[in-house]
Amino acid sequence: MSVSDNVIEVTNLTKKFGEFVAVNGVSFDVGAGEVLGYLGPNGSGKTTTIRMLLGLLQPSGGEAHVLGYSVRTQAELIRPKVGYMSQKFALYEELTMRENLDFYGGVYDVPRRERAGRVRDVIGLLKLGGHENDRAGALSGGWRQRLALGCALVHQPKLLFLDEPTSGVDPSARRAFWDLIYDLAERGVTIFVTTHYMDEAEHCHRVGIMFRGQLLALDTPSGLKTSALPGAAWDVIPDHGSASLVMALTALHDVPGVVQAGLAGDRLRAITAPDAHTADSLRATMLSNGFADAQVEQVEPTLEDVFIALAGHDQRT
Ligand SMILES: Nc1ncnc2c1ncn2[C@@H]1O[C@H](COP(=O)(O)OP(=O)(O)O)[C@@H](O)[C@H]1O
Ligand SMILES: [Mg+2]
Repeated sequence: MSVSDNVIEVTNLTKKFGEFVAVNGVSFDVGAGEVLGYLGPNGSGKTTTIRMLLGLLQPSGGEAHVLGYSVRTQAELIRPKVGYMSQKFALYEELTMRENLDFYGGVYDVPRRERAGRVRDVIGLLKLGGHENDRAGALSGGWRQRLALGCALVHQPKLLFLDEPTSGVDPSARRAFWDLIYDLAERGVTIFVTTHYMDEAEHCHRVGIMFRGQLLALDTPSGLKTSALPGAAWDVIPDHGSASLVMALTALHDVPGVVQAGLAGDRLRAITAPDAHTADSLRATMLSNGFADAQVEQVEPTLEDVFIALAGHDQRT
């Protein structure tokens, strides 16, 4: 590895498909043992970034080093050393869990005599016990997801790429999966994980926000909330009924000091400029707009608020 402790170093990485720029000059580093979340909606360039980092796609511009190797010229040295759970991971439906793990051990060149032990380790690590002899095709979504993670771990990589690993699984399986991600990180595995779930990104050490091929920001979740949202976040509950919710949103947009307002379930979420409002002053503006029962509560900003602030700004420029 080079002079730094970075496991991934990316400089101005760009991918064009014809005229279309799928990844536009992104730069970032990932340190050893970090869980880096790459958050962005569908089509924002997350998978394309991973495919370049694995050397599966040649960049159109820029450079990246993974484990010290250039993705442009040394890709064949990178792939055996990293684990990759792709968005469309492939399990052999007719094979059992154990047979799938053994098969991927072979793909990653784990010597035959070590394979049974490695498979046993992965089953223990990911708490897959009890289902070793079940056909992959008979497993539920959450178990399939964990088996796919296991398949990416049989060769004991120190760096793991997970591309939307929890998409389509139920919330309790998502939580269980994130517990596994932490376990791996505590064992020193560096993890690059993409998601379009804003709440999941809160679990990462640092989060990069991708939008239309650009990395708009990258920081800790709390750092993002202070740098992208200098003011305060509020829940505004006008009163009961969705018609009043939409009218209240229109009113809220026009309140001086409100920099961002939107629907958030059965309530409104507002972001205000620094020191622009207290709960009382914001409530008073709602009262003067005819929402006599309005309630206002200050809340912790979420990464969704951050995303809207950054992506909304990007749309205007
Ligand atoms: N091989 C390709 N040829 C043309 N366009 C592509 C190709 N791969 C991805 N794209 C486009 O690049 C953009 C980013 O895609 P992707 O990286 O898959 O986004 P994400 O993973 O964030 O959903 C999308 O608009 C997608 O349609
Ligand atoms: Mg993708």
